Amino acid sequence: MIPETHRPKILSPSRAFARIKRGESIFISSGCAEPHYITSQLLSFFATAFDNELVQFFSFGPIESMAALSNDRFRANFFFFGDSSCEHIAKGLADYTPTLLSEAPRMIREKKFKIDVAIVHVSPPDNDGFCSLGVSVELAKESIEASRYTIAQINSMMPRTYGDSLIHIDKFDAIIPIDEPLIEWQPPPPDNVAITIGQNVAKLIEDGSTIQTGIGKIHDGVLLALSDKKDIGIHTESFTENIINAIKNGVINNKKKSIHEGKVVATLCIGTRKLFDFVKENPFFEFYSCEHVNDPITISQNSKMVSICNAVQVDLTGQAGANLISRDFSAGVGCLPEFVRGAKRSEGGKSIIALSSTSKNGEVSKITLNLSSGAGVFATRGDVQFVVTEYGIANLEGKSIRERALALIEIAHPKFRKQLLEQAKKSNYIFDDQTIPLSFDEELLKKWETKDLLKDGKIIGIRPVRPSDERAIQRFKYSLSDEDVFLRFMSTGIRFNHSRVMPLTMVDFKTHVAIIAFIGSPGEEEIIGIARYYNNPSTNIAEVAFTVNEKWRRRGVGTSLLKHLTRIAKSQNIKGFRAEILAKNKAMMRLFHKSECTIHSSFEDNLFTMWYLFDT
Ligand SMILES: CC(C)(COP(=O)(O)OP(=O)(O)OC[C@H]1O[C@@H](n2cnc3c(N)ncnc32)[C@H](O)[C@@H]1OP(=O)(O)O)[C@@H](O)C(=O)NCCC(=O)NCCS
Repeated sequence: MIPETHRPKILSPSRAFARIKRGESIFISSGCAEPHYITSQLLSFFATAFDNELVQFFSFGPIESMAALSNDRFRANFFFFGDSSCEHIAKGLADYTPTLLSEAPRMIREKKFKIDVAIVHVSPPDNDGFCSLGVSVELAKESIEASRYTIAQINSMMPRTYGDSLIHIDKFDAIIPIDEPLIEWQPPPPDNVAITIGQNVAKLIEDGSTIQTGIGKIHDGVLLALSDKKDIGIHTESFTENIINAIKNGVINNKKKSIHEGKVVATLCIGTRKLFDFVKENPFFEFYSCEHVNDPITISQNSKMVSICNAVQVDLTGQAGANLISRDFSAGVGCLPEFVRGAKRSEGGKSIIALSSTSKNGEVSKITLNLSSGAGVFATRGDVQFVVTEYGIANLEGKSIRERALALIEIAHPKFRKQLLEQAKKSNYIFDDQTIPLSFDEELLKKWETKDLLKDGKIIGIRPVRPSDERAIQRFKYSLSDEDVFLRFMSTGIRFNHSRVMPLTMVDFKTHVAIIAFIGSPGEEEIIGIARYYNNPSTNIAEVAFTVNEKWRRRGVGTSLLKHLTRIAKSQNIKGFRAEILAKNKAMMRLFHKSECTIHSSFEDNLFTMWYLFDT
């Protein structure tokens, strides 16, 4: 397996380590490609070393455990970190070098970040002498090029992979041929919160999109929720074995990718033998340096690119943080800013920050007034677009701090909304008199979200109004002609200011319900019609009103709003609707008369009062 010509390079670990000088920086392959056998021998070598630095993208192998033992002989330095390394860094035992991973290879090449020795983990060479970096290409080639000395563990259990993963055996100064299973890691299955977040994220993913996936429950929740999607592509820093099912059931086929068509593109993967066997000599996967994969320009060349980044916190202005002292896996700058920016620049792309609304068993809100001290911002206020929790989707792009704060409070955990509202008021983020229905019944809100088909085959969305719709409702009202305003409000020159519009957003499902008809995807809705009722508890008959944008009239939007408002009212045991309609308002008359309900009316002063009683 090792060519005769290279056999003299075969050394024991201690002989191979003997050529490492004091004070040198040693690059080591990451994740499942950490050369387990070699690195487990390093501790004894360091008994006589001085000030060597172990440089890694991230570890969950021996290096992670060794980091806790750092002393004046060696110290670990990570570009990214997982749970345990996070603790070591927080305790000051290991170093963290914040960097954009697409820039790390250039820093290494230009000696701005110095690497003297590379220890890599590769497959056996082919007939032409090429070994494969297998499951982790990341920074390995650049580190080998920059080093004065390279040690390779050649392992027949490292799968050969495609892309830019090949490295010639000539590049190695010392070879340690050891066959051993790769380090394995399997994420815990997604819990209910992660599944719901995944479903919310999936609402933003169109067929034919290319997505970033990653490591952790939320990414796995997203993969599960993609089961009804078509032609999904993958361009990602890393992936786990949970993509195998989505590939086998045809959801991920990479057919619509605009670069690397037909290929899953990544810089590394993390999993168990099942995944390693799946990627082995599989032309469906291509692994490249993170200089290529994580470059925002490369990312943006994928049309409909959707980045999905897991944040530890999002503040009310939209800054997203990966917390230095958090125990959450997703920590460190990593690839997040690159994917956020690359996806936003892609044609039809979207950037999504996904997080559960709380941490520490529900005791702490992850939507906060300010980021915690020590938090690393990976999406600035100017970068952020969609934020998704288990409570919904907030689109912050192009929104003022006032609109952002409200939209984020809506997707915070209900038990923290009041506190966040008060904090936002004190910071002058929102109006002093701002309220939101704190008793929002999330299940009801979800239950009344639906789609409807118009006469011309166009599909529209229907959903209850939310406080963050205030500006859109204001604009909708001001877009009405004087004639429409008169028909609807029987008055003209009405000011639809904050104090008038805010109460219109206070849906409580008891006395007040308002729904909108909209076009556009979630978070990017354009309101085309509004219907609301106020119930009169003494009669249990609700006062009802409708308005449809002029361009959308006579296409069935009014009928659809009446149908859905009727369903909601019936579910609340309301007996019927009442409306006052000007005699000349033929459209509204027709809308009421179209229904199969019993209609009663009276006429006075050019005004019909109509009662639309639900049949029991
Ligand atoms: C009343 C209003 C909400 C109806 O909305 P819409 O989306 O056009 O309603 P639809 O397309 O579902 O039409 C419902 C029925 O009314 C009919 N209709 C609509 N506009 C009409 C008009 N100007 N004259 C006669 N019939 C009309 C439609 O043809 C349809 O009947 P059909 O199914 O038998 O063809 C809309 O015209 C509007 O916003 N008007 C201004 C505000 C207003 O008057 N609000 C009512 C105060 S409570």
